[in-house]
Order: sequence, then structure tokens, then C-alpha cells
Amino acid sequence: MAALAFGANRGAMIPRIVLLPGDGVGPEVVGAARAVLEAVGRAAGRELAFEEHPIGGSALDACGEPLPAPTLAACRDADAILLGAVGGPRWDDPRALKRPEQGLLGLRKELGLFANLRPVRAVSALLSASPLREERVIGTDLVVVRELTGGLYFGEPRGRTATPEGRRAVDTLVYTDIEIRRVAQVAFDLARKRRRKVTSVDKANVLDSSRLWREVVVEVARDYPDVELEHQLVDSCAMRLVTAPAGFDVLVMENMFGDILSDEASVLAGSLGMLPSASLGATRRGLYEPIHGSAPDIAGQGVANPLGTILSAAMLLELSLGWADAARAVEQAVEAALARGARTRDLGGGTGALSTSGMTEAILRELTAPAA
Ligand code: IPM
Ligand code: MG
Repeated sequence: MAALAFGANRGAMIPRIVLLPGDGVGPEVVGAARAVLEAVGRAAGRELAFEEHPIGGSALDACGEPLPAPTLAACRDADAILLGAVGGPRWDDPRALKRPEQGLLGLRKELGLFANLRPVRAVSALLSASPLREERVIGTDLVVVRELTGGLYFGEPRGRTATPEGRRAVDTLVYTDIEIRRVAQVAFDLARKRRRKVTSVDKANVLDSSRLWREVVVEVARDYPDVELEHQLVDSCAMRLVTAPAGFDVLVMENMFGDILSDEASVLAGSLGMLPSASLGATRRGLYEPIHGSAPDIAGQGVANPLGTILSAAMLLELSLGWADAARAVEQAVEAALARGARTRDLGGGTGALSTSGMTEAILRELTAPAA
């Protein structure tokens, strides 16, 4: 690995990283990313402190809460949090009052992590792994900025009631201008470091919350005259993502729109297993997680693709620890391993597919290879 300069941080306090392996393939991929972080730290002679805490279904099993108080307290004290995944069929009873997902949603809300960054880049080695034709995918380099602590996921009223006419359930899509403004600012700031284009996604032809969204985004845009702004309805955006994805730079949208469109966009990178994410708030402390979820069908088999989590660890190094050259080193190791043909099953590895630990070793080899 190229020498990792640490100048400014030498002598600073040891960064505290809280690991939340969670459910399904979570523990497998978090273990892989931890090995990569440790290798990066070793190579630079810098110490990183890790602690592990339960969340989601495994926390429900262990102590009856999806977000136990000690887990939340540790996360509040951390410099960064790396999460695997939550949820699984074991905890899927629709009538259960406590669900694994509440652990993750509670953590996002409690820590005020309102902006979720989900970068999607077409890696040349994986162009053929995408279900889309190569010429469509080529050149894709976008970031979905998903609002994460408001909208349909958290709006009140919500819940289920029995009425004389039958059962009724309600969720509420609500936004305040403050919530829209702060996430729009994140998107515009990010666009300034990229290709200076923001696509704001809404459903303003139908929803009042979307009409406010559009109005506030236009207000924010006045402070960024150097950034191009376009508005796109969520349905046509879903289509454009698979017909002309290379035209996007930064997309910003409501919580649930972002949940849906980021899964759709993930196939552009070859596989859902490739996608990292960072959830950020007003401070530097962030929550980093792959977007793929717990994948219960392959949990425990050691075949999950660890790259989404390893790339999330790279985002952690850069955004929470301020260690950009280490982040680049990890990203380059991933690209180099892929270029050499390393493939997990989801990347079309076929009979020669690498296991989770096989892929992790391939990354570690690239990381520790002497700089060219
Ligand atoms: C995601 C996941 C979560 C979400 C689930 C697990 C609650 O799908 O991070 O995209 O819907 O936000
Ligand atoms: Mg999702």
C-alpha cells in the first residue's frame, strides 16, 4: 500500500468505531470490513478501537429490544458506526410490536442522521455483471442523497385500527421546510465537489409534500448558482435510471423514494452487493452500511459479497475519520481485485466464485501489495 500519511492526526485520540453486525449476512460482511480497517490501520501505524454491539433481530433475541440502550449509548459516543444488516424471516410476524428494522430506524432518528449518501458507479470490470446492456451502464457515476429521518417512514399519524367497516392502516408523508432544506444543502454541497448537477426527485404533480419539496429545493438552489438543478418526477426517474443513468450526478429525494430508487440504481454497479452508504447528520459521526440488507437466503453460508461493506468502511475512513488517502487505498484495492477477476457469486463468479473470506483476502492482498 502506498504510504498512508497521518500527519495531522498523529497523536490524536484513538478513533472509536462501533460495529453493529446485526442479522443475516451482517456479521459475515462486517467481519470482512473490520479486517480491512485493521489492515489499513496497521499499515499506517495507527490504532483504531473497535467495539461490537447487538442491534435488530439478534438484539431482540438477546434482550427483547431491537435497539438496546447500551447499543445506542455506545453509538452516541462513537466516532463512526459500521452496520451490517437487520431483519429476517424469523422476526417477520406482521403483528409483532417490536421489529428488527426499528433498531436501524431508531438509530438513524436518535443520532439525527438525516442525509443518506448512496454512491453508484459502474466499475468497468463489472459492466458485464449488470443486467442492463453495457452501453447503457457505461459512464454511470451518481449519488443518491436520500432523506433519512422524515417522510413516510416517520410521519404521524401511523398505525392500524379496527373500524366498523373493517381494518384500517395509515402512514403519513410529511415534511417541514427545515427538513427539506438541510438535505438539499447536502446534495448541492456534494454536487459542487462533483459534476455540479442536482436532480431533485418528487411527485409534485400529485403530492402536497412534493410541491413543498420542490419549492424549498428551488430556494436552496439560489445559493448555488454554479450548480445546475433539474426536477424529475419519481416515476419517470425510475425509468431514466435504467435507460440513461449516465446523465445523473447527484439525486436528492424523500426517504421512501430513495429507498426504492437506490435499490434500482444498484444494479448499475453490477450487483446490490456492491453498494455502500453513509448516513450523516450535523456532526462528523456517521453510520455506514451496505444497502443490501440481511439476505437471509444466503446467511451463514460464507458466500455474501463483502464489497458493499468494505466500500462503506472506505466512506467511514474519509467522512468520519478524515482519512481520505486510506479511503482511496481501499477503493483502489477493490477495483484492482475486480480487475484481476475476483468475483463473488452475485457478481457472476459461477463455479469459480470466491467466498466472503476469499474476496476479503483478495482485497487484503491488494492493500498490502507494495505500491507500484
Ligand atoms: C435500507 C433498508 C432499510 C430501509 C430497512 C432495513 C428498514 O431497506 O437501508 O435501504 O428501508 O431504510
Ligand atoms: Mg432499502
